[in-house]
Amino acid sequence: MNRRPRRNRKSNVVRNLIQETSVSVNDLIFPLFLIEGNKKKVEVSSMPGIYRFSIDTMLTEIESCLKLGISSFDVFPAYPEELKDTVASESYNPETFYLKGLREIKKEFPEVCLMSDVAMDPYSSDGHDGIVRDGKIVNDETLEILSRMSLAQADAGVDIIGPSDMMDGRVGFIRNALDENGFTDVSIMSYTAKYASAFYGPFRDALDSAPKFGDKKTYQMDYSNAKEALIEADLDVEEGADFLMVKPALSYLDIIKSLSENYPLPIAAYNVSGEYSMVMAAAEKGWLDSGRAMLEILTSIKRSGAKIILTYFAKEFAQINSKK
Ligand code: PBG
Repeated sequence: MNRRPRRNRKSNVVRNLIQETSVSVNDLIFPLFLIEGNKKKVEVSSMPGIYRFSIDTMLTEIESCLKLGISSFDVFPAYPEELKDTVASESYNPETFYLKGLREIKKEFPEVCLMSDVAMDPYSSDGHDGIVRDGKIVNDETLEILSRMSLAQADAGVDIIGPSDMMDGRVGFIRNALDENGFTDVSIMSYTAKYASAFYGPFRDALDSAPKFGDKKTYQMDYSNAKEALIEADLDVEEGADFLMVKPALSYLDIIKSLSENYPLPIAAYNVSGEYSMVMAAAEKGWLDSGRAMLEILTSIKRSGAKIILTYFAKEFAQINSKK
């Protein structure tokens, strides 16, 4: 035998020399759940190790993440039912705890990269990402609300707006609104290819944001389809997105690869709640090692072409990494 591929695997050092992909804390965005109040830190029952924080405990959490090298955060609010209505009015109330929280985070830690979520579902009494009329999600009127929400978040100081709603035309609509109001430096990370997925289950528990009727299939994509992702990406590029995101990540590595090969913009992937929880649940049963599974998962997402990974594993990754 002339060729023995095993020679390149013979020691740790050689393996490290030929390693093509490695994940760094710089690649990660840590999603955090914010609730109203003080001194609260409540574990999400379907996401072991992940908490809903009030702003004071969230600031402490961010500080400890910063020490571990995690400096990008995506904050999602969990609203009580009584603050929800059909048009998500609370989302742009300047006194609402989410906007005040975002402002406080940037004041306390101006160096962090802070991302916010734009969609109606956490504030909607229908639990949908857009306005509901006669059982349908109406697109164009929803854009007005999304842009008011985006302006309020930009005003609170966020670095990146994350429209996760999948309404048509929202990236361009939000971009125009931001620019007209002087927020030309606020970036947009578009949820470009967001599929209607079973893997969002634990997130909807965390936010109490499950749809009150039906599903999200008239706006989120059908997991049978890959080409539609290219249409969505074309539109987002035209409309001024700064990053393209694929969500979820693991069942969609082909989509990540196709966007990364076809578009020069940085590609992000959202390693979603269900993908986190299934690893943690198996680990709790002693069926696999969560740390090793996490490294393999994050590496595979990066190998497929994502530069940025939004992941609930971010802190655990940073902890393991800092001990190496
Ligand atoms: C809602 C939103 C969802 C997630 C992020 N933003 C859920 C949904 O579309 O129902 C899911 C994140 C996760 O599962 O980790 N706009």
